[in-house]
Amino acid sequence: MKRTLGTCYYPEHWPREIWADDARRMAEAGLTWVRIGEFAWSRIEPEPGRYDFDWLDEAIAVLGAAGLRVVLGTPTATPPRWMVNRHPDMLAVDAEGRPRKFGSRRHYCFSHEGYKAECAKIVTRLAERYGQNPHVAAWQTDNEYGCHDTTISYSDAARKAFQGWLRVRYAGASNDGDIHALNEAWGNVFWSMDYGSFDDIDLPNLTVTEPNPSHVLDFRRFSSDQVTAFNRLQVEIIRAHSSAPIAHNYMGRVTDFDHYKVGADLDIASWDSYPLGFLEDRVPASVEQQRAYARQGDPDFQAFHHDLYRAVGRGRWWIMEQQPGPVNWAPHNPAPLTGMVRLWSWEAFAHGAEAVCYFRWRQAPMAQEQMHAGLLRPDSAEAPGLAEVRQVADELAAAPQVSPSRAPVALIFDYDAEWAWAIQPHCAGLSYFELVFETYRALRRAGLSVDVLPPDPAALDGYKLIVAPGLVHMPDALKAALTASGAIALVGPRTAARDGSMRIPVPLPPNVPGLDVTVTHVESLRPDTPVSLERGGAVRSYREVLDTGAEVLESTTDGQAVVVSQGRLIYVAGFLDRDAMRRIIKIASARAGLETLDLPESVRCRDTGEERFWFNYGTHTEDADGRAFPPLSVTREVLR
Ligand code: GAL
Repeated sequence: MKRTLGTCYYPEHWPREIWADDARRMAEAGLTWVRIGEFAWSRIEPEPGRYDFDWLDEAIAVLGAAGLRVVLGTPTATPPRWMVNRHPDMLAVDAEGRPRKFGSRRHYCFSHEGYKAECAKIVTRLAERYGQNPHVAAWQTDNEYGCHDTTISYSDAARKAFQGWLRVRYAGASNDGDIHALNEAWGNVFWSMDYGSFDDIDLPNLTVTEPNPSHVLDFRRFSSDQVTAFNRLQVEIIRAHSSAPIAHNYMGRVTDFDHYKVGADLDIASWDSYPLGFLEDRVPASVEQQRAYARQGDPDFQAFHHDLYRAVGRGRWWIMEQQPGPVNWAPHNPAPLTGMVRLWSWEAFAHGAEAVCYFRWRQAPMAQEQMHAGLLRPDSAEAPGLAEVRQVADELAAAPQVSPSRAPVALIFDYDAEWAWAIQPHCAGLSYFELVFETYRALRRAGLSVDVLPPDPAALDGYKLIVAPGLVHMPDALKAALTASGAIALVGPRTAARDGSMRIPVPLPPNVPGLDVTVTHVESLRPDTPVSLERGGAVRSYREVLDTGAEVLESTTDGQAVVVSQGRLIYVAGFLDRDAMRRIIKIASARAGLETLDLPESVRCRDTGEERFWFNYGTHTEDADGRAFPPLSVTREVLR
């Protein structure tokens, strides 16, 4: 597969007279792909049932004639105003019970049958018309499911659909819902919460104090399944008319739906990478770190998502939107340092991307994103990012092929575990995402390339080290596969701490065969009361007390075992700070026979099948592995 570049274009925003020139300039800049259409519903179907495809026919023809390949988006993230008049109850409802209003985007509820039928209609029209168009070389469904906090809706439509989902989940002998099975699974006897009928079950918002965690977890699973079903509806329609690959563009740190499940129906995963936009509110990083990387982005955050979405795409993934300059939506929006647009692009290729597309071609002079950079200014002159894009295009000539490879280390990321931690954190601010991400950081500081994996027993073969922090739900098959994998496996905290219904299992967790560890009780800690470890570093925020006969690798100064090991299994009984985490990763790597490095704070490396890439996110030259890496640099070495 070739490494390619592209951009996001909105022909409906610009006079037809400039389309051809735009297309020519895109091709001259070395771009292959142009994504269009994903917000254009009001111009494709200005009134219910009246379609205007002339402009879209022409736009596709003009772009195609310049040699560009079109990614056609379905416009379902932006239902027009007439849609809301037609289906007033299609709006998503927030946790306070307020409908989300028309006037921006993503205002629909995934459970509204009327809206889904409208989506099926518009997608059918598009697929029929462009399914065989020679210039339409890929599709994108909708836009950024879950962005702007839109996965979960507390609407009437969601309530009805949830009741139906529960009936299937708790189906009794007659194949209809068995309400006693649900009461038992949720433990509804506690506080007299027993239900007599599925029709009585409400959504878990606006309760007096916290709702039952089992109820919330099922609602989170249901909400995720609604996204999968919504996407599948579109995929099936497109596939009936087109053999072009279908993608969706996911976002950074959106975890409210199971991306692996959505990805299973698609050909390509893609994501929208805004390294500076993410830095302040999505990256677990101190204020000092944010300041140091304000114009470069976090050195691990993009890479983590590259590796995650490679798993979601089962090997095939793109950047659908790459930040090309300042964005408009973060608390502060600095310009990237010169060189970063190039560095981000190459980093994606180093993690196996097939394409990097820049958002957007030209800065918009109107509406919400006026202060968001494009590759062109609103007056069509070049913006600073475009020179770097050209440079990447030139450099790709010397390294044109994606060469995929299996990393030596696997890190499991499980959306279900993320929901379970969020529902029952036991400690303000405790986050599974952060636990996994900090583990990833430590692996990267050790110079290791990582594959992120779903919690799938069939995916574990061939790794030397498997790291699975915080897997609250660990079915027996996964426990067995981990033990049998032949890898060194690092698990805990909260491994198998709840059964599938969010109840504490007995025997007590983790109950992993071959590991003599029982978590007898847990405690959470104030941020200012970490407990030091004997060998340096600390356990912070959350820790478990173990009854164990395993070898103690690390203990606290107050005499508790924190990291223990037996056979090829290592159990970590808490959140470790960065020092302790790095030490444990080195111990585990050494046991797995992996060589590690001690990379500087700003330097990272990543291997593809044939190359090793080095990236320095810092503004100073840094030494690593016996070499000097200049500021903001990309270094590519051919390994074989
Ligand atoms: C993305 C979105 C784009 C645009 C962009 C601005 O989240 O998909 O449509 O809004 O952000 O950075």
